Amino acid sequence: MSALATPPLALYVHFPWCVRKCPYCDFNSYTLKGALPQGPYVARVARDIAAQAPQVSGRLVTSVFFGGGTPSLFSPEAIGRVLETTRRQLGVAPDAEVTLEANPGAIERGAFREYRAAGVTRVSLGAQSFDEQALHALGRIHSPPDTRRAAAELHAAGLANFNLDLMYGLPAQPLAGAVRDVEEALALSPAHLSHYQLTLEPGTVFAARPPALPDEDACAAMLDECGARLAAAGFAQYEVSGYSRAGAQCRHNLNYWTFGDYLGVGAGAHGKLTFAAARRIVRTTQLREPRRYLTAGDAALTQRAISAQELPFEFMLNALRLSEGFAEATFVARTGLAWQVVEARVRAALEAGLLVRTAGGYRPSVRGLRFLNDLLLAFLPETPENSGASALSMATPEVAATA
Ligand SMILES: C[S@@+](CC[C@H](N)C(=O)[O-])C[C@H]1O[C@@H](n2cnc3c(N)ncnc32)[C@H](O)[C@@H]1O
Ligand code: SF4
Repeated sequence: MSALATPPLALYVHFPWCVRKCPYCDFNSYTLKGALPQGPYVARVARDIAAQAPQVSGRLVTSVFFGGGTPSLFSPEAIGRVLETTRRQLGVAPDAEVTLEANPGAIERGAFREYRAAGVTRVSLGAQSFDEQALHALGRIHSPPDTRRAAAELHAAGLANFNLDLMYGLPAQPLAGAVRDVEEALALSPAHLSHYQLTLEPGTVFAARPPALPDEDACAAMLDECGARLAAAGFAQYEVSGYSRAGAQCRHNLNYWTFGDYLGVGAGAHGKLTFAAARRIVRTTQLREPRRYLTAGDAALTQRAISAQELPFEFMLNALRLSEGFAEATFVARTGLAWQVVEARVRAALEAGLLVRTAGGYRPSVRGLRFLNDLLLAFLPETPENSGASALSMATPEVAATA
């Protein structure tokens, strides 16, 4: 390791319950059975923050993300208490971005004003689609009018900096349906739009009983057409699935993608922490199962150092999601590795047309962004069977160098 630097620090807080588990979802989320254990969970999260605080003493939190699950099942007062603990135990930068994920079907009328008063500065709303039938096929608990009402309330509450999650490639969805969803979303004047292709995740109901989905060519056409509509509306694609108005990129997610640090608290939360003086980068993992997490002691948090062999892949897995890519200096500062460690693999990816040189470093080409998994193969930890550069040439037999 050479010049490992201490990166910015974020906080992720996981809330694992939902009104109903969606059949496509493999997040650590569970159908709420019985009463929400709001008080005990907030107290447990506070203990989690306090227990992890000594690892990051002296570092201010630059963004907080309340994710799930459905954090909006928790009251503004409960969210406010977690923020208060965060301020006391860790310290929060005065201009910190504080995002709350909300489900349009699980948000009390008028609650956004109170979340804002509690310290929330940004909301991410799970719209998914504006087609009643599509929402039904996805097992969602909300309707398109619920999303429209939530968006109107966000504007009225002074939280115009909100994101809408949309999915495309939905069961029986035609191209026009995907485009209509984007147009309906834009009509609500969000600042940010996350656009995900529906994937069949192992262990989900959809993986066990797959619905008929549009094929890859149809999904590629949706991506192109929707991207064009978003660009025309002033939304730049700055990440594989992320589009935003100027200045409205999600700072919390940018920190992940630039290989920044984050504390992970709550059931199943992951963290990443850099100890520059000790030249160590560790991943932390909390207990996944909410009931076990609730009663567990501080020792339940597991920590594992990321080895020097794993670091190039871990870095690229994040950095190559960004349209603008990364600088060599960032790779060196955030991994502590010499640039020479990846130089040959970067060169191979350039030659394969998957990476492009920029003034400050490298970015994925259009093709590299679309076939990100192929690009990432080049950075897998090297084994005798798989040298990174040769893995790349196997993955991309012929390449159109579009950038
Ligand atoms: C944790 S959820 C968001 C908040 C809230 N739980 C909700 O669903 O309204 C994060 C987002 O990931 C996306 N997502 C979840 N499962 C997915 C899948 N299998 N394929 C594509 N996108 C998925 C959805 O757009 C979802 O809103
Ligand atoms: S509401 Fe969100 S987190 Fe909960 S199951 Fe559905 S997609 Fe997953």
